[in-house]
Amino acid sequence: MNIVVLAAGMGKRMRSDLPKVLHPLAGKPLLGHVLDCARSLQPNRLVVIYGHGGEQVPTAMAADDLRWALQAPQLGTGHAVMQAVPELDDSVPTLVLYGDVPLTRPETLRRLVDAAGSDRLALLTVVLDDPSGYGRIVRDGDRIVRIVEQKDADDATLAIREINTGIMIAPTPALKRWLAGLSNSNAQAEYYLTDVVAAAVADGVAVVAAHPDAEWETLGVNSKRQLAELERIFQADLAGRLMDDGVMLADPARIDVRGTLRCGRDVSIDVNCVFEGVVTIGDGARIGANCVIRNATIGAGAQLLPFTHVEDARIGADARIGPYARLRPGTELAEHTHVGNFVEMKNTRMGAGSKANHLAYVGDAEVGERVNIGAGTITCNYDGANKFRTVIEDDAFIGSDTQLVAPVRVGAGATLGAGTTLTRDAPAGKLTVSRARQVTIDNWQRPTKKKSAA
Ligand code: UD1
Ligand code: CA
Repeated sequence: MNIVVLAAGMGKRMRSDLPKVLHPLAGKPLLGHVLDCARSLQPNRLVVIYGHGGEQVPTAMAADDLRWALQAPQLGTGHAVMQAVPELDDSVPTLVLYGDVPLTRPETLRRLVDAAGSDRLALLTVVLDDPSGYGRIVRDGDRIVRIVEQKDADDATLAIREINTGIMIAPTPALKRWLAGLSNSNAQAEYYLTDVVAAAVADGVAVVAAHPDAEWETLGVNSKRQLAELERIFQADLAGRLMDDGVMLADPARIDVRGTLRCGRDVSIDVNCVFEGVVTIGDGARIGANCVIRNATIGAGAQLLPFTHVEDARIGADARIGPYARLRPGTELAEHTHVGNFVEMKNTRMGAGSKANHLAYVGDAEVGERVNIGAGTITCNYDGANKFRTVIEDDAFIGSDTQLVAPVRVGAGATLGAGTTLTRDAPAGKLTVSRARQVTIDNWQRPTKKKSAA
């Protein structure tokens, strides 16, 4: 099939400089959701009608499989589809989607496509308790005969509760013919796509309807309120599916997934966690409250304590991270590692069983196995111009409040005394310490305040 996505509209009620279809839902532009759904139907041609916001939309959403058609000025939904006409393959039907209706499921569209076959016009319709604002589906008995827009409707038509979602599919040569015949003599002086229904009926083409499983699949975004409502619907649906797959959610209303979250068996997730990009969590791992995790792999049995931030990192099996730990890009922790509160790590590999339990910065480092990094340790990896690596070999013990001035190497089994500023390599198996010897001054008198003259 051909798929045409209407995305030229202005979205005035968003009150934003960002074109409406670029507003994110679950971390992805509205139009991105629609395009991903469209792609899952494997269309022959995928055409996006753009207009408001100019080149911003094609620039933001550029992809090899897309054809862009500019609609300027925007004279209605029928006029929008007309702009796609030169791009449409006559041998397959054309499906019209809206760029601001992000939650439609591929299964629903497949049902619509099947209902249309090769020679019918099929409309996606729903029956609403409150149909106001929408185009109404006018039937003669069971037969659909036309769509009447809210602004053109008389009282009897306004009482109809079956509405046009806007999503439809039609045989392409017929659609082109009907579009060419549209007029704009209506209440909004627009070329209505919906008028193709009456044209099909006049042509003797059957018009049929299909329906979504859930009403929310057809909701559009016109305002920030509606965007937030759809975000909640999306997240609730996703949370439901995670629980169906066996994930323990402390509260399905308090999880946000902006990307792909894959969980093994018996994963538990406490409240207010945010997952971004692609996150994979192994069997039995536990995620504490208020963690923010982006593009990460978390090993089986690992535990993230509350308020841990993880970005572009890998955490090994049975590791214990946090609370208040920050793992930045390039952090790779092996199994049974411990990273405690107020520890920041970046571009660092840490071997099995190693620990940095309190208040440390470990960046651009290679840490072996069973290493203990004391509280207050800092890798001085940056001289203001270049970054340098620190290597800490297996079984080393880094005393508290140590600065490792990179490039520097701590040999296997070496011990650094507390407070050391290490500027040269520390040999394996020995104690290295760099601090002034402790002295005690005998007979020293603490100064006292001078008495002022009366
Ligand atoms: C349209 C339908 C109405 C349906 C409703 C569902 C028509 C005439 N009416 O009404 O029956 O119930 O959607 O939400 O089709 N767009 C363009 N170019 C334009 C005009 C619109 O690209 O010139 C795009 C918009 O960006 C939007 C979609 O088409 O994605 C629908 O436009 P909108 O103005 O929201 O249509 P409605 O008047 O609400
Ligand atoms: Ca609308």
